[in-house]
Amino acid sequence: MKFYLVVIGIFLTVCFVRCVNQNKVTYDLPAAMLPHVKQEYLSRCEKGKILYDMNCAGCHNTKVKGKVLIPDFTPEQLKGYELRITNARHSESLTDTIVTEEELGIIMTFLSYKKKNEVK
Ligand code: HEC
Repeated sequence: MKFYLVVIGIFLTVCFVRCVNQNKVTYDLPAAMLPHVKQEYLSRCEKGKILYDMNCAGCHNTKVKGKVLIPDFTPEQLKGYELRITNARHSESLTDTIVTEEELGIIMTFLSYKKKNEVK
């Protein structure tokens, strides 16, 4: 009886760890960045990930071999998108999102520093 409980316990732990790791994102911050600045960027990136998951992931994430992929937007794409939706006249006619300018800035930090996907 005890043996089965241990086996089930190990199984659940493995499932849990796999589940947690699947959603883990790592970041590529410039090597020259000072440690305290790095810390600030990391917490901004983590906030951006949450905002991205809430506002953007539904349309933009894809699944490859069961693994969730966040798109690798180029800096030009991100800048273009930011300009487009923060421009008052554009955002009136192109309301594809409901994030504030500040939230969008945080999402941009997340998408800019997120480690690039290895699978192409
Ligand atoms: C309702 C679905 C939808 C939502 C929500 C959405 N997008 Fe998009 N997005 C699209 C589509 C469709 C395109 C155009 C096709 C493409 O490039 O994938 C696009 C394009 C983009 C592009 C590329 C622009 C370019 O110049 O090529 C970026 C960057 C982007 N979206 C970022 C975001 C961010 C950040 C959010 C969240 C704040 C977001 N999107 C939310 C549907 C969506």
